[in-house]
Amino acid sequence: MSKSQWSTVSHTIEDHIAWVRFDRPEKRNAMNPTLNREMAELLDSIEFRDDVGVLVLSGAGEAWSAGMDLKEYFRETEAKGFGATRRAQRDAYTWWRRLRWYQKPTIAMVNGWCFGGGYGPLFACDLAFAAEDAKFGLSEINWGILPGGGATKVATELLSMRDAMYHALTGELIDGRKAAEWRLVNEAVPPAQLEARVREVANVLLQKNPVALKATKDAVRRVREMTYENAEDYLIRAQEAANSFDNNGRKEGIKQFIDDKSYKPGLGAYDKSKRR
Ligand code: COA
Repeated sequence: MSKSQWSTVSHTIEDHIAWVRFDRPEKRNAMNPTLNREMAELLDSIEFRDDVGVLVLSGAGEAWSAGMDLKEYFRETEAKGFGATRRAQRDAYTWWRRLRWYQKPTIAMVNGWCFGGGYGPLFACDLAFAAEDAKFGLSEINWGILPGGGATKVATELLSMRDAMYHALTGELIDGRKAAEWRLVNEAVPPAQLEARVREVANVLLQKNPVALKATKDAVRRVREMTYENAEDYLIRAQEAANSFDNNGRKEGIKQFIDDKSYKPGLGAYDKSKRR
C-alpha cells in the first residue's frame, strides 16, 4: 500500500490487480479537491504498468464515496470565486473522464455509501459489484440542488426513465440488491463475498487479450451514441486499429482453435502464454 505519497487515496497491486481506494474514511470518502487531484495522479501513475491488468475502485471504511465534499468542494471553493469553482469541477470531471477511457478494464467494488457525485466514478468503471447492504442515493434533492456533475446523466444512462426520475426526485436510498435490479450495478452479493466475487471477475478479465479488452470497452461506450451504420463502420476501423497493436494475439486465437484444437472460443479464452 502506498499512502505516503497521497493522503486521501491509496492502492495495492497484487496478482495483476490494482486495488485502488478512496481513502478518507473519517469523511466517508467524500471527494474534496485534494482527493480529486490525488486520484488523478494515482490513476496516471499505474495506468500503463505491465503488472496491472485490471483496476478495482473501492472505498476505505464503511463508505464507497459519500459524493462531493459539501464543505471543501462546494462551500469553500465557491467562496473563492468563479475560477476556483471551475478548477475544482475540472479536477473532478477530469479523473472520471480519464477512468471512463482507462487503458485497463475497471471494476467498481461498492462496499458502502455511494452518493451523488459518486455516480461519476461509478459510471466510469466498466463493471460494478455492490455489497447487498451498500446504499445508493441521489441525495442532491435533499439539500436543495439538482444532481449535477454528471449524476443525472449517469442515472438516465443506466436506469429506466421512471426509475431515474423517482431516484432523482425523492432522494430515497436504494440498497445494493435494488441497485442490481435497476441495473445501476452488475450484481449485488453478500458483503463478506464482495471482494472474492470481484477478484473472480478480475481474474476472468486477466485471461483475455488486453488489446481486445481496451478495444471492446471503448466500443461498448462509443456505439451507444451512434447510428447502426456509424457503429458498423467504427467497429471495422477499431478492429483494424487494434490489429496494428496486436495482430499476433488474434492469429494465435484462431490457430489454437482451428489448427491446434486446444480450446473453443465459445467456452473460454485462448492461452495467451503461447503467443508468438
Ligand atoms: N461532504 C462533506 N463532509 C461529509 C460528507 C460530504 N459529502 N459526507 C460525510 N461527511 C463528513 C461529515 O460531515 C462528518 O464529518 P465530522 O466528523 O467532521 O462531523 C464525517 O464525514 C462523518 O459523517 P457522518 O455524517 O457523521 O457519518 P454517518 O455514518 O452518520 O453518515 C452519510 C454517513 C454518508 C449518510 C452522511 O455523512 C451523509 O449524508 N453525507 C452526505 C451525503 C451526500 O449527500 N452526498 C452528496 C454530495 S453531492
